[in-house]
Amino acid sequence: MTKETKIFYVSGKLESAPLDEAAKILAQGGTVAFPTETVYGLGADALDEKAVMQIFEAKGRPADNPLIVHVASREDCKPLVLDIPEKASLLMDRFWPGPLTIIMERTDIVPDVTTGGLDTVAIRFPENQIAIELIKRSGKTLAAPSANLSGKPSPTSSGHVIADLSGRIDAVVDGGDATIGLESTVIDVTSEIPAILRPGKISREELEECVGGVKIAYDDKVHPESETVRSPGMKYTHYSPRAGVILVEGEHSAVVKRIKELLEDLNMRDAKTGLMLTDESENDFSGIESFSIGSKNKPEQAAKYLFFGLRDLDLRNVDIIIVDGSFDSRGIGAAVFNRLRKAADMIIKVQ
Ligand code: TXA
Ligand code: MG
Repeated sequence: MTKETKIFYVSGKLESAPLDEAAKILAQGGTVAFPTETVYGLGADALDEKAVMQIFEAKGRPADNPLIVHVASREDCKPLVLDIPEKASLLMDRFWPGPLTIIMERTDIVPDVTTGGLDTVAIRFPENQIAIELIKRSGKTLAAPSANLSGKPSPTSSGHVIADLSGRIDAVVDGGDATIGLESTVIDVTSEIPAILRPGKISREELEECVGGVKIAYDDKVHPESETVRSPGMKYTHYSPRAGVILVEGEHSAVVKRIKELLEDLNMRDAKTGLMLTDESENDFSGIESFSIGSKNKPEQAAKYLFFGLRDLDLRNVDIIIVDGSFDSRGIGAAVFNRLRKAADMIIKVQ
């Protein structure tokens, strides 16, 4: 598969011509990567089986891993779902447009390829203006997974998309870096007790409050490949750079101490190590490849720079990435730890 991947530049002013060209490619059944507030997505007409198949092919994505359908209004959902449950309606009022994906029962017009054969469909109304314009101008709803090769860290810039998918997709709309940096919160409202299938910026507490204090289920186990899980995507390798990842979790000074011990051990084995640090631990390590994901007290910075940092260290050809996991795990921090634990080959907890 070798395609000539076009790049369209669209700044804050939302230039019409490149957006129209990109929208035309989508309307004609092509694949276009575009920015959203969470990460870049790889879009295609959600109701066109052939178009959607190209997404799976470009990413090397397993066919049973369903896609999120992106809409530009609540109206756009109507043909896709059997009904909009009361709880979904409350969530849409409060969090749409924004980083929340809602799973509902689907109608027959949504093809099996889009939902991986499930009888539910995941829907999101993104907040990014470029994403909204592309959906509107194409006149389609857009199936769009994160625009990375399957298994790699999600892309937060057009450069990441190009590194993974150049030659495999029809176009990329470059609209600057993603502001949140982590994928949307995914919530399933098809059963009596709603369930978070993937944590994100919108926290469980916010969701519970929005649906009138109803308890929302959340299971943060890392699932082995063989298990049947509610969200098929949970069982696959995720967010993995080429290098091995060791996550050291715990209180700041204990984490720094353990990383120093690990470094000595790895040096003896001649392994080239890169560190993903916090601003607070940066001064403890000099002369080693490192990347800071921000202050340990500001998990929103860790969210924004996590995937960026993993990709950046990978480009420096390290064999092992050790991550300082001493940052705040509240709010969006919980979602950062969820991604890191999935990316990690080894998790060390210290006190
Ligand atoms: O922020 C985001 O959600 C980004 C941007 C581009 O919108 N998209 C994204 O898509 O992260 P993707 O495909 O990388 O992740 C979608 C997740 C997967 O874990 C998938 O298994 C789950 O949502 N999912 C999709 N449809 C589902 C369904 N019907 N039932 C259960 N899980 C579903
Ligand atoms: Mg993804």
